[in-house]
Amino acid sequence: MARMPKFDVVSIEDLTIEDIERIFTLADAFVEALREGRRCDLAAGLIMATLFYEPSTRTRLSFESAMHRLGGAVISSADMQASSASKGETLADTARVVAAYADLIVVRHPYDGAARVAAEYASAPIINAGDGSREHPTQTLCDLYILRRKKGRLRGLTVALCGDLKFGRTVHSLIYALARFGANIVAAPFGGMDVPDYVLERLAAERNYRISTVTIDELRSQAGGLDALYLTPSAPHQMALFTGENPLEKAPSARPPTALDAFYVTRLQRERLAEKDRAGGGAYVHFDARALRTSRAQQAVVMHPLPRTDELAYELDSDPRAVYFEQAAAGVPVRMALLAWMLERAGTAAAPKAIVEPPLSFKGEPAPRCANPACITRHEGAYLRPRFRLARSANRSLLALRCDFCERELRIEFVGHAKSHRYYRFDENLYGYVRQWIDEGSLAVFETVKQAEESGYEPYRRGPQREVMNAAEIAAACAGMAAQIIGDAENPAALALVGVVSRGAVLATRLRDLIEERAGVRPPTAALDVYGGDAAIHPLDAAGGFDVDGRTIVLVDDVINSGWTVQRAMTTLWRNGRPAAVKLAVLIDRGHRALPIRPNYVGKRMPTARGDRVRVRLNVPAAEGEARRPVDRVVVYSMVDAIREPEAAP
Ligand code: NCD
Repeated sequence: MARMPKFDVVSIEDLTIEDIERIFTLADAFVEALREGRRCDLAAGLIMATLFYEPSTRTRLSFESAMHRLGGAVISSADMQASSASKGETLADTARVVAAYADLIVVRHPYDGAARVAAEYASAPIINAGDGSREHPTQTLCDLYILRRKKGRLRGLTVALCGDLKFGRTVHSLIYALARFGANIVAAPFGGMDVPDYVLERLAAERNYRISTVTIDELRSQAGGLDALYLTPSAPHQMALFTGENPLEKAPSARPPTALDAFYVTRLQRERLAEKDRAGGGAYVHFDARALRTSRAQQAVVMHPLPRTDELAYELDSDPRAVYFEQAAAGVPVRMALLAWMLERAGTAAAPKAIVEPPLSFKGEPAPRCANPACITRHEGAYLRPRFRLARSANRSLLALRCDFCERELRIEFVGHAKSHRYYRFDENLYGYVRQWIDEGSLAVFETVKQAEESGYEPYRRGPQREVMNAAEIAAACAGMAAQIIGDAENPAALALVGVVSRGAVLATRLRDLIEERAGVRPPTAALDVYGGDAAIHPLDAAGGFDVDGRTIVLVDDVINSGWTVQRAMTTLWRNGRPAAVKLAVLIDRGHRALPIRPNYVGKRMPTARGDRVRVRLNVPAAEGEARRPVDRVVVYSMVDAIREPEAAP
């Protein structure tokens, strides 16, 4: 019996041009075989599993059909809601288990980077049938196959991509492939749905390739027959595209602009939009026969990965240039070819793996977390540690990391040196040091100053400090807030306090005691750790339990500045239940808000400069054996950035 090698197709970039050419040759043969009704038993005895966590018609059925046509067998979990996923099983566990039942697993999943995770945990090869908004490599094989059949080549073609280029995963895989095959790409995104930066950066870094971007109207007017029109270049490469010349080497030539060879239209990926964006929005792209009337577009084929919604007029279906049903039909021979190619590979020695730099390792917890809410690491946090490399766009003035799973960038503002336990606001002068810390494994990164300090790091250097509140003032401020909280509460018994770790939690217990003294009710109180993952909320009362549901929660923190910490705390709260209301109490409002958040109770309003650090010290009842008991006070000092004293960095 043939064996499937452990070769994963997570990205279209996992296949070389030669691999793709070979797959197309095999696909040609399968097209013939299917036409002639010839039987094939290449995959006899093999089992393919399809694990679909998202709806699918074409991809799953054509994969299954392909495997049957190759004489193999299929087991399928088409609706993962009917599987143990609905009981909370992780993707890693499912992938590992299913690998024991099948020789090959085809996975579709709503989260970015999910196929990579499955590939790492399953001993059987994984084929990505769409992971969130990231990639859909086998759709690209179908797209390229049909495009080449129609146009006779791929090199030098000009393909216009229209619609949702942000979340459309088929588009991303297609872009990588077209770039490699030497086609020109014109992106005409629907308002705001541009090709994501991480895709553009990968193209620029690995292929020195740039996409032209035009508005849909510009594309329409170009396709609209203005043959002499040159697109006003907003970047030099656009000129290159429409003239076939590199403007940096030569002035634009007088040659007419390149004809368009294909329109690739996509559906608005509604399921990936935030709730609020789903309903409204302007009219989406609507593509009809008019777009093909002009000389520039006359030879263009119209492609779509399907399903369509309203973006393609039905009148186009009878036009021979509409090839979307052919793309869908190619699903079977092309996927047969991919499976056959994988079997072919089993017989050949594996190519030596390219040497890749290992991911960065960070000192201390918490490690940075991917900023993309749809990243698989944000949803499978129980076992999956975020993993980063330096971003492609990383330069000296900006420290950016790239998530290994979803490829999104994370901009780092604060870095720490684990040996000296100092933290710094990142700037150019630190770049060399940071590289060194990466090499020695002593780099720590922080989203906020608070996080750095909670992790035991001290600012690199501080200017002279001045006291802005003493113990008596802090006590008076707390008493004032407690009185206001009671005054506002319709039912003090419904109150609950949640303090952000660590000083917010100390303040919360103080407010609790004050409320108890004055109102005779003792609101349940908990600490919330914004970096605490699943166990983020823990009760501070000896009595145990803490319930968020139906309560009027007063969220308590020592200082509010940008508002990011509060926003994260709110997200955590909501993950733990449905409060009736959430109010915010802070000892100090610095007022540099990046988010529209206004505290309800404020001890002291104190505008400060951005580089200032406000530090609240609170007298915590000493644990046994603890010697120092700091006195309550609030001090302000300026943080001296390394940039001001470059020679003085560590
Ligand atoms: C696409 C997908 O699922 O990404 N469908 C497909 O596989 N042909 C495109 C889409 O859903 O819009």
